[in-house]
Amino acid sequence: MKPSPAGRHENAVGHVTGRAVYTDEQHLPLGMLSVAPVQAPHAHARILAIDAAAARAMPGVRAVLTAADIPGENDSGPIVHDEPLIPRDRVQFHGQAVAWIVAVDEACAAAAAAQVEVRYEPLEACLDLADAIRREAWLRAPAVVSRGNADKALGSAKHRLHGEVEIGGQDHFYLETQASWAQIDAEGIVQVTSSTQHPTETQIIVARVLGLPANRVVCRSLRMGGGFGGKETQANPYAALAALAAHVTGCPVRIKLPRSIDMQMTGKRHPFFARYEVGFDDDGLLEAIRVHLFADGGWSTDLSPPVLMRAMVHVDNAYFCPHVSIEGRITQTNLPSNTAFRGFGGPQGMLVGEEILDRVARHLGLPPELVRERNFYRDTAEGGRNLTPYGQTIHDFPIPRLWRRLLQTSDFEARRRGIADFNATHAHARRGIAITPVKFGISFNKTEYNQAGALVHIYTDGSVQLNHGGTEMGQGLHSKMLAVASRTLGIDVARIQIMVTSTDKVPNTSATAASSGSDLNGQAVRAACETLLGRLAPVAAGLLDCAVEAVVFADDAVHASHAPAVRLRFADVVQAAYNARISLSATGYYRTPGLTWDAQAGRGQPFYYFACGAAVSEVEVCAFTGVHRVRRIDVLHDVGDSLVEAIDRGQIEGGFVQGMGWLTCEELRRDAQGRLLTDAPSTYKIPTLGEVPEDFRVDLYRSERRPTAQVIFGSKAVGEPPLMLALSIREALRDAVASFGSASRVELASPATPEAIFRAIAAVRDVAPEPPGSTGAVSA
Ligand code: MTE
Ligand code: MOS
Repeated sequence: MKPSPAGRHENAVGHVTGRAVYTDEQHLPLGMLSVAPVQAPHAHARILAIDAAAARAMPGVRAVLTAADIPGENDSGPIVHDEPLIPRDRVQFHGQAVAWIVAVDEACAAAAAAQVEVRYEPLEACLDLADAIRREAWLRAPAVVSRGNADKALGSAKHRLHGEVEIGGQDHFYLETQASWAQIDAEGIVQVTSSTQHPTETQIIVARVLGLPANRVVCRSLRMGGGFGGKETQANPYAALAALAAHVTGCPVRIKLPRSIDMQMTGKRHPFFARYEVGFDDDGLLEAIRVHLFADGGWSTDLSPPVLMRAMVHVDNAYFCPHVSIEGRITQTNLPSNTAFRGFGGPQGMLVGEEILDRVARHLGLPPELVRERNFYRDTAEGGRNLTPYGQTIHDFPIPRLWRRLLQTSDFEARRRGIADFNATHAHARRGIAITPVKFGISFNKTEYNQAGALVHIYTDGSVQLNHGGTEMGQGLHSKMLAVASRTLGIDVARIQIMVTSTDKVPNTSATAASSGSDLNGQAVRAACETLLGRLAPVAAGLLDCAVEAVVFADDAVHASHAPAVRLRFADVVQAAYNARISLSATGYYRTPGLTWDAQAGRGQPFYYFACGAAVSEVEVCAFTGVHRVRRIDVLHDVGDSLVEAIDRGQIEGGFVQGMGWLTCEELRRDAQGRLLTDAPSTYKIPTLGEVPEDFRVDLYRSERRPTAQVIFGSKAVGEPPLMLALSIREALRDAVASFGSASRVELASPATPEAIFRAIAAVRDVAPEPPGSTGAVSA
C-alpha cells in the first residue's frame, strides 16, 4: 500500500533507501554506448583544425561527433537560436566541448577524448561582469520598468543615498548531474529519456537538431535528482547529443556528465551587479529609487531575458515606492551560459531591495525592521500603496499581519536587547538579528507558459493511471498530483498510479518551473478527474436510484448524499460505466486566467498572486576569522491550504538552506584563463547539515481571509519563495558586523564568506560615525 499523500513524499522510501531509479540507473538497453567531451582549454578561440584520427583508431571508439555530423539545425538555444550544439569554428567558454567521443563505455570515451588534437587560435576573452560592462558587451537591448518621475523625486527628496552591490552566482549542485539517453526504435522514432524539467522543449530541440518533425521524437522524464532550474533548458543539449550519437551510430547512447565536467560546462545562477540611488524622508519612507541591474548572461542568451525581468520586478519585494526607475542589461561574457536557478532572478532583485532598505535605516539611525515595516505595500487602494511599479494591483497582502505575528513568536524585541547586552560584553564575538519579508510573484512572466495538461485513465478494476505535464525533481509534485486526483475522485491514493512524464501522453507542456508546477498541473488533473466524474455520476445514480446531483464520490466509495450508509464500490461503478460503453479516459486542461504582460513596456498583470513569508535569523560572527554560526531561524510562510504539509515544510527548509548557501558559502572562482577552479565539492562549499542550526522553527501561516486567486484546493506555490527568506541571514550578518563600529553603512560582499565578513568588520572599525539624518546631499 502506498502511504497517504497527506503524510509524505510519494517516493520517500525510494529516496532514503536508494531504490528510486534515476535516468542513468535504469536497465539500459544492450549495446549502450557512452560519450565524453573534448573540452577546449581556452575561454575564447578560433578552432583551426580538429584531428581525431588517433581517437577514431582506438578500440572501442564508435564515432567522433563534430558540428559536421548534425543533420538538422546546429542549435540548442531555447529562446534565441544563438547556441550551437557543437561549435563549428569558435570556442566561447573554457571547457566547452568542441567534439564528443562515442565509445563502448565512459572510460574508453574519456581516454579517446584525450587523443584528439585540436589547433586553436586564442582570442581575447571577456571573463567577468565588470569587464563586460566596461566593454558594453550587451546580449540584448535594455529592459525598463518604471513609474512616476524618479529623477525629479530623487532631486527633491530630503535624503539621498547611492551605492553599488555585487552579487555572486551559484552552482545548482543537483545530486544527479546532467543525464540523458536515447535510442531509435523499430519505427524510427527517437526515444529520449532525459533528466529534464521541460520534456516538451527537450523534444523540440532534439527534433530541431536531427531535422525531424516533433512527432518523431518522444521525451520522457523520470524523477530528477534535483533540477533547481539547472535542467529547465540546460538538459536540452545533452539529450540532443545522446540522440545525435544514436542517430550516427545506430546504437542506444547514454550521457551523464561527471560532476566536475557538469560544473565546468553548465550555466549558474546569474551573477549581478547593481547601482542604486534612493530618496527618502525622515521616517525612512521611500520616495524614489533608481536601479541599474546588470546580469552576466554568459556566452549565449538562454533564459537571461526573463531572469533579468524577474529580477527587475522583484527589487520592490514587499515595499511600496512611488517613483521607480529600473533598468536592466544582460552582458555577454566568455563563460558558460547562465540560466534559471530557484527564484529565477528574484533573489538578486530582492537582495538589492533589502540592501537599499538597510542603508536607509542605518543612515537615519532607525531599526531596519521598523523601516522595512513602514514601507510595506498595503492591500487597500489608499494612497495607491497597493500598486507595484509594473502596474499590478496587490490583493490579499498577508505580510503586515504575518510580520507582526513573527515578531511576536520569534520574541524579536527581547532577543534584540539580549544581543545588545551580549555585544556590549564581547569584544571579538558579536551577534546580529534581522527579519526580512518575501513577496514572490507566481506565474511565468512568459504568459503562454501558464497552461497545463493531464491525461487520466480509469481501468475496469477501478485502478487509475495519472499522467500530467509536470516533472518530479524531488519537490513532491507527483505526491501533490496524487493528492489532487485522490481528493477529486474521492478514492484512496493507493488506487492511483502516477506515470513517468512523457511527451506522448501530455503534449506541449511548459517547464516545471516558476514554482507553478502544482498550481497549473493540479488544475489540469482536477479538470480531467471532474470530466470522468461527470461521466460516472449518471451511472452511479442509476445504481443508487438517486438524482445525479445527489451522487457523492468520497472515502473510496460512492453513495447518495441522503443515504451515506448505502455504498457502492468505486470499481463497480467503473465496471458498470464500461458495460454501458462510457469512455473512462479523459484529458484535462488549464490556463491561468487574467494574466497580461507587455515585456517591452515592463507593464501588466504578470502574476496570478504573490507567495509571501518572512524570516528572522540570528547569527554570531567571530572577528578573528570572519567565521559565523547561525544560532536560530524562525520562518513564517504562507502556503495557503497545503496540499501535502510535510512536503511544503521540506520545501521551506530546503529552499532556505539553499539560499543560505548562495549568500554565505558558495563561491565560484575562476583563473585568469576563465577555467573554473571550484569544480568539485572540495573547493565549492555547499551548506551541509552542520551549518543548519538545531533551532530552526518553521511555521505555516494560517490566514483568516479567503484569497481572491483561485488556486488548486486553496494551496499556494512554495518551490522557490523560501530561498529568498535566507536574505534574513545576510541582514543578520550585517547587523552583527555593524556592532563592531558605529558606521551608518555596512558593506558586505555577497556571498558573505568568512573573508568577506572579516573585511566588512575591518571596514566598519575604521569608519568615523556620521551624524544621523544629516544631509540632503548624495553620500556614497
Ligand atoms: N525541490 C527539490 N527537492 N528539488 C528541486 O530541484 N527545484 C525548485 C523547487 N524545489 C527543486 C525543488 C525550483 S527551481 C522550482 S521552480 C520548483 O521546485 C519547481 O517545482 P514546483 O513548480 O512543482 O514547485
Ligand atoms: Mo525554477 S528556477 O523556476 O526551475
